[in-house]
Amino acid sequence: MYAPNINLSAFGLAIGEALGKFSDHFAIDEKGFVVNCCSLHQKMSAAIAPAGDCFFAAVLTPSHFLPILILALFRKNFSEAMFDTSFTPEDRAYLQKALELAAAGCGYVSPNPMVGAVVVKDGEIVGTGYHRNLGGDHAEVEALREAGHLGRGATLYCTLEPCSHFGKTPPCVNRVIDAGITRMVIGTLDPNPLVNGRGVKILREHDIQVDVGLLAEACYELNAVFFKFITARLPFVTLKLAQSLDGKIAAANGASKWISNEAARRLAHRWRWQHDAVLVGIGTVLADNPQLTVRAEPGPQPRRIIVDTNLRLPLAANVLTDAQVNKTLVAVGEDCGEREKMAEIENRGGRVWPIRTTAAGGLDLRHLLERLAQENIAAVLVEGGRRIFSSLLEAQLVDQLRCFIAPKLLGDGIPAFQGLPIGSLDEAVTLAKIKWEILEDNVLLTGSLRGTE
Ligand SMILES: NC(=O)c1ccc[n+]([C@@H]2O[C@H](COP(=O)([O-])OP(=O)(O)OC[C@H]3O[C@@H](n4cnc5c(N)ncnc54)[C@H](OP(=O)(O)O)[C@@H]3O)[C@@H](O)[C@H]2O)c1
Repeated sequence: MYAPNINLSAFGLAIGEALGKFSDHFAIDEKGFVVNCCSLHQKMSAAIAPAGDCFFAAVLTPSHFLPILILALFRKNFSEAMFDTSFTPEDRAYLQKALELAAAGCGYVSPNPMVGAVVVKDGEIVGTGYHRNLGGDHAEVEALREAGHLGRGATLYCTLEPCSHFGKTPPCVNRVIDAGITRMVIGTLDPNPLVNGRGVKILREHDIQVDVGLLAEACYELNAVFFKFITARLPFVTLKLAQSLDGKIAAANGASKWISNEAARRLAHRWRWQHDAVLVGIGTVLADNPQLTVRAEPGPQPRRIIVDTNLRLPLAANVLTDAQVNKTLVAVGEDCGEREKMAEIENRGGRVWPIRTTAAGGLDLRHLLERLAQENIAAVLVEGGRRIFSSLLEAQLVDQLRCFIAPKLLGDGIPAFQGLPIGSLDEAVTLAKIKWEILEDNVLLTGSLRGTE
C-alpha cells in the first residue's frame, strides 16, 4: 500500500506519471491525482511520513523508498509548483470549517477518525456535519441530510475521503452520489485498506469532480491517532510527564505531587478523556496511588492500564476500589502466580491480562499494545513513571511526548528517563514538530518522535 495524498499540478503531473511508471504499486489518474494504493505486500513495514501538505500513509518495500524520496524532495523544493493551485480561498475556508467541526468528535469516535463536512451551494453553506460517535452517522451523511434537496449541484467539503465499504454504516460514497453532489473537496485519502482511494475512484466514475489534498497536513494532524492505528495496528502512544528544570519527575523521596501547576493538571485531565486509555507502571501506583480518572471537567472515563509483572498492585489501591474499577486492566506476566488476587480483581469488575515477558524481566510492551489495539484502543496516554517511559522509548513505541516543565530544581530526584542506550549526541532521541505553550509559570513542550510516524 502506498498512499501519497497529493494533488499534482500540470508540472507535478509529469513527475507523477514518471513515478507511476517507476512503481506499479500506485496509480495516477488523468488529472495527476494519486488515487490508488497497493496492498499486495504483506511483509512490508508500516510507516507514515508526513511532508508538508502531503503525507504518505505507506507500507514500504525498499523499491518504494526512491519514489518517496523524489516526492519529498519535490515537496521541499517545488512545493508551490507541485500542488494544485486550483483551490480557492473559499475552498480553504470551507474545508477549514469542516476541520473545526471534525474536532468536536474528539474523545467520542475512537477508533474511527474525526471527520467534518460542509455542503456549499451558490456560495452559501447549506449543510454541516461531523462524526459524533462511534457507530453513528458519518460527517458527510449528516451534512447531506441537512442540505436536503439543496445538495443537488452543490460542492461537498470533507476532511477525509468518504468510505466505499459497508462498516457500521453503509458506504458514504453512495449517499454523495445520490445527493447529486457535483464536486467534492477532500483533505486526505482514507488510509484504511478498505477505502484507500476507492472512494475517490467511485465518485469520479460517477462524473463527480474530486479534488484531494487541501489542508492535508492539518487533516492528517487531526487524525494522527487514526492513521497510526489503521496502518500499524498499534495504538498511538503519547508520553505525558511533568518535570523540573533539571529533568526530575519526582523528588528524592519519590513524591511528585505536584511538580506542575494547576493549569497543567487541568489540561492533563482533558487529555485523559481524549484518549482511550491511560497507562502507568506499578512503581507509579505504589508511589502515588493515582485515580487516573477524569475529574476536572466532564468527559468519558478512559480505560486504566497498570503494568505490573508480579501483581504487586494492592487490593486497596484507588484503581481497584473506586466506582471506575471496571475500567481497570492490570497487565501481568504470563507466569504470574497470584491466582487469588487475579480472581478478586475480576470479581470487582476489573480485568487481568497475562502478557509475555522479556529477557530483562519486564512485560513485553509491544505485545501489550498489540493486545490493546485488538480491543480497539487507538490512543494511549502514558502517565509514568521513569521506567515505563524509558522502556517505551527504547522499544520505539512512542509517537508523541507532552512535557510540562516547572520552574523548580529537584536536585537528586528521580530523572524522567533512565538507562536509554544513548552514548553520543548523534544517538540522541530528537523530537520533531515542536510546539511550545506557556501555562502561567509552566511551559508545555509537545513534540513528535522521529521514525515513529
Ligand atoms: N512527574 C511525573 O510526571 C510523574 C508521573 C508518573 C510517575 N512519577 C513518579 O515516578 C516514580 C515512579 O517511577 P518508576 O520508574 O519507579 O516506576 P514506573 O515506571 O511507574 O513502574 C515501573 C515498574 O513497572 C513494571 N514493569 C513491567 N514491565 C516493565 C517494562 N517493560 N518496563 C518498565 N517497567 C516495567 C516494573 O515493576 P515489576 O517488575 O514489578 O513489574 C517496574 O519496576 C514515582 O516516584 C512517581 O511519583 C512522576
